[in-house]
Amino acid sequence: FKTIDNFDLSGKRVLVRVDFNVPVVDGKISDNSRIVRVIPTLKDLKAKGAKIILMAHFGRPKGKAVPEMTLLPVVAGLSEALGGEKISFAPDCIGSEAAAKVEALGEGEILLLENLRFHAGEEANDPAFAAELAKLGDLYINDAFSAAHRAHASTEALARLLPAAAGRLMQMELEHLEQALGHPKRPVAALVGGAKVSTKLDLLGNLVGKVDVLVIGGGMANTFLNAQGIAVGRSLCEHEMADTARTILEEAEKRGCKVILPSDVVVATGLSAGVATSVVAATAVPENQMILDAGPASAQEIAAELKNCKTLVWNGPLGCFETKPFDQATNQVAQAAAALTKSGHLLTVAGGGDTVSALIHAGVEQDFSYISTAGGAFLEWLEGKTLPGVQVLQDVA
Ligand code: 3PG
Repeated sequence: FKTIDNFDLSGKRVLVRVDFNVPVVDGKISDNSRIVRVIPTLKDLKAKGAKIILMAHFGRPKGKAVPEMTLLPVVAGLSEALGGEKISFAPDCIGSEAAAKVEALGEGEILLLENLRFHAGEEANDPAFAAELAKLGDLYINDAFSAAHRAHASTEALARLLPAAAGRLMQMELEHLEQALGHPKRPVAALVGGAKVSTKLDLLGNLVGKVDVLVIGGGMANTFLNAQGIAVGRSLCEHEMADTARTILEEAEKRGCKVILPSDVVVATGLSAGVATSVVAATAVPENQMILDAGPASAQEIAAELKNCKTLVWNGPLGCFETKPFDQATNQVAQAAAALTKSGHLLTVAGGGDTVSALIHAGVEQDFSYISTAGGAFLEWLEGKTLPGVQVLQDVA
């Protein structure tokens, strides 16, 4: 696909799709990474003299203007990330007021449009709505990899209406995913955690055919233990997924993919801070207890395995890391992976949902080779699915 480098942008109105779907607590942005990560694109566009019009969504307002889902709080966050620069705001993403604000933009200036999802046409990928957006620009840039799994007007239809290119963050995300799983240095390991097998079936299915080592952690490891006839007490476990779990294990064996499940686990009677815990073999979970983390021997075993690997893709925590002390295995393995990354032995790529919070919690987010801004899109990419927002950039190039 094309990039910013393929166009002369001087004086051009450039519509840029970004993902400002950031966590907001009491009207304040609690994590501004998605804003910070598009700054290189914005700086490049400014340096090239573009008039920058930012399009984004926030939450799921279902086609209605819901005041709590305004993008207004992002104006201050973005301005701050750009060293106090003035950002204009259009209270509707299409129509005459937005057009007038675009008209008033000087070269290098930035306008943020209100939440695209206030219009039903956005999520419906409606060509008429895309055409309204297209009126505001001469060119289209997609820098929202984390929204690329959605075929929406601003991520799909619009790319067919204007000359289109990928932004810097989009380029970075794809390059790193490609390095991690497209053409990785082997052996390549994937660490997949999280609560449920049922939400990660496609992921596990795709990974067993691609990676050399698959580490399974979190609640879903219990389902795999149970599938092997091991009693897991009161642990979170999808008993009905036992056959599926066995099929995944068989497939892994056929494809030469080594699967690592916890050999020891941390158990307690319930998930609360300060509860009495013990470490037991995964085969000896007491009936009235639940598994809440992988044990220290498992963490060590995983860390030792990573020493033999060249690439690691990480999605999902190993235990209930939000509640101490069930963050131990995740912390230990994350720190081991970070140390191997720093010494140049391992390329580490992480993303998706809880993963980034878990790595921040472990204090290693600076040390990983790459942390994706994407949740759902990261997963779908790892599942081997086509992302409409990426595909269209390739189609039109
Ligand atoms: C995300 O936060 O993962 C993206 O912004 C997509 O949001 P969505 O799941 O509401 O489409």
